[in-house]
Amino acid sequence: MMESIRWAFNTRLWAPNKGDWMTALSLIQPEEKERISKFVFRKDAKSSIAGRLMLRKFASEVLGLPWSDVKFGRTDKGRPFLVNSLPENPDVDFNVSHQGSWAVLAANCGGSKIGVDVMELEYSGGKNIPEFFHTMRRQFTSEEWSHIYSFPTESTQLASFYRHWCLKEGVVKALGVGIGFELQRVSFQLTTQELSTNMITLDTQVKIDGILDNRWQFEETLLDPSHSVAVARQFDSPQSNTSTAGALRFIQMSFDDLIASGDQLTKPDEAAAEEFISKEETPW
Ligand SMILES: CC(C)(COP(=O)(O)OP(=O)(O)OC[C@H]1O[C@@H](n2cnc3c(N)ncnc32)[C@H](O)[C@@H]1OP(=O)(O)O)[C@@H](O)C(=O)NCCC(=O)NCCS
Repeated sequence: MMESIRWAFNTRLWAPNKGDWMTALSLIQPEEKERISKFVFRKDAKSSIAGRLMLRKFASEVLGLPWSDVKFGRTDKGRPFLVNSLPENPDVDFNVSHQGSWAVLAANCGGSKIGVDVMELEYSGGKNIPEFFHTMRRQFTSEEWSHIYSFPTESTQLASFYRHWCLKEGVVKALGVGIGFELQRVSFQLTTQELSTNMITLDTQVKIDGILDNRWQFEETLLDPSHSVAVARQFDSPQSNTSTAGALRFIQMSFDDLIASGDQLTKPDEAAAEEFISKEETPW
């Protein structure tokens, strides 16, 4: 049976040259290559391709499928799934997230659905923080807002806000539902007040439609001081929320790690790599 997997790749520190990008593009499915080539900014293309390479590395190195045989599909809500049948690991589930400096993958077997979300603890929109929170008021319950506003400074309130955000997205992504899910139905109860980089927090609980739901287990940590990550797992039966079973640290990957088992799925495309190199890294 496969082990649990938590992988992270720092996309902000990754500065692929033309050759690296040609390699990366040649290792993913053609429709993903097309999708990623359409991003306007390099940062978005890098984040998304890192997620795709992690998925394939996982399917190849952990699940034992030959790289070029792996076939991912997407549900109508966009959630990637493995098309190949897995007689050895029938109840595996996995999910990817990318935001700020990081792309992450979380995977488990054992019958739980899994969702992961990473967020940078920073707000760069045009509004001030109180205005930003006001526009987001319907996404969180009054209990959650009380927790967020219990912190004394805007930066600590923002950290709590994004912690809740990651938890909520983790649930949405485990369920694979996407936009349209009523986020007010899900309300988190946090015991550990603040996350840290050297600890996995496991004591968070969730109420769904006002009722505590012990089938959910959460793993939360900071990947670095400015990035929060949550893994949400939904089991078929109630779980102990203090159990450390399956709670793992994220292992940091290099680009060489991501492509180590790679096999070409499409021919190296110099024009696509030149186009990537000519793009701006970010909108600012
Ligand atoms: C699609 C969605 C579920 C996750 O997207 P996101 O948080 O913007 O982005 P993340 O980086 O965490 O995840 C993106 C990856 O998740 C995967 N994914 C896409 N759709 C998914 C879905 N419906 N369920 C689970 N995973 C999904 C993909 O691997 C995707 O990467 P890719 O498109 O490069 O292949 C999200 O856009 C969404 O619909 N959210 C609705 C809930 C909401 O409004 N939340 C606000 C928080 S309070």
